[in-house]
Amino acid sequence: MSETSAPLLSVRDLKVHFAVRGSHHAVVKAVDGVSFDVPAGRTVALVGESGCGKSTTAYAIIGLEPTTSGNIYFAEHDITHLDKRARRALAGEMEIVFQDPSAALDPKMTIGDSITEPLAIQGWPRNKRRQRVAELLDRVGLPAGLASRTPNALSGGQKQRVVIARALALSPKLLVLDEPVSALDVSIRSQILNLLMELQRDLGLAYLFISHDLSVVRHIADDTIVMYLGTIAEQGETEALFRGPQHPYTQALLSAIPVPNPVVQRTREKIILSGDLPSPLAPPPGCPFVGRCPISIDRCRQVRPILAPAATGTKAACLVRVPAADPTFNERLT
Ligand SMILES: Nc1ncnc2c1ncn2[C@@H]1O[C@H](COP(=O)(O)OP(=O)(O)OP(=O)(O)O)[C@@H](O)[C@H]1O
Ligand code: SF4
Ligand SMILES: [Mg+2]
Repeated sequence: MSETSAPLLSVRDLKVHFAVRGSHHAVVKAVDGVSFDVPAGRTVALVGESGCGKSTTAYAIIGLEPTTSGNIYFAEHDITHLDKRARRALAGEMEIVFQDPSAALDPKMTIGDSITEPLAIQGWPRNKRRQRVAELLDRVGLPAGLASRTPNALSGGQKQRVVIARALALSPKLLVLDEPVSALDVSIRSQILNLLMELQRDLGLAYLFISHDLSVVRHIADDTIVMYLGTIAEQGETEALFRGPQHPYTQALLSAIPVPNPVVQRTREKIILSGDLPSPLAPPPGCPFVGRCPISIDRCRQVRPILAPAATGTKAACLVRVPAADPTFNERLT
């Protein structure tokens, strides 16, 4: 990750725990100590199985979910606990795009009104808003005539283009994209991904890109963060992580990506993990991955690994593969 200038977004030891209704003690540790940066103009992907805490991380960043502890910095300002007014002011700087564009658009509003809603809230006059709609529709590759239509006249891909246009209305610096192509037909996905890459190139946007699809992540992301049970198992530059994954969970995830060449597919070993993701209500005391790990040792049940640099260029939280991931590593050396 870039270390030359301050990152646009910095997340430090973020925890988001949910109280369990009807219990005095039980908490769901949806996000449990996550730190990462998103530099300006770069794409950082968050990947991992369903329930590992990707969306909760995104919602905390965007202010939709209160944080339990930790800090979130945007352009070097601490935005962890903003009041509603300060949050509204920030809305122009960072926006979120959700998976399902149909749910994100009011079926009764015209496309033009939906796109200019953020501008209307900021008090833009009507004629300026109309001009901006035409610009934004053009930016996302839609005809200007769609401004007067309602969402039911549009395809899924067109609706997601409208949602992206609305997110761009106030010229943000960061888009948080929560599975932005997962609800779309496979044939449309690459068009939307290409649009996102083109917008990034032209506008210098940064993306926090959440996805299940590792092929998409490899294509689009500069840096990749692999989450497991509310924690980070491995993170690093996408190429380094895909070429030399260190954490056994990353290795299992990558081994499941289909390869277009059937010969390679047949010869490549697919790592099947036994068991499901454990409940974030009762994570194991040591390494969160211990119950499914094919190479665990006894110490993994007692010690929680921390992220430490691996020889391949990523950082991984694994006591076996990266011994420095043991928090007592330095003490034990002396
Ligand atoms: N409001 C809430 N109250 C209690 N538990 C919650 C709440 N929101 C999320 N969770 C739990 O937190 C964990 C993380 O959920 P999250 O939605 O962040 O996962 P995710 O990685 O985005 O999954 P998916 O890939 O399915 O979208 C899950 O166990 C989920 O059930
Ligand atoms: S720390 Fe232990 S259980 Fe965790 S991933 Fe490494 S070997 Fe597996
Ligand atoms: Mg999610």
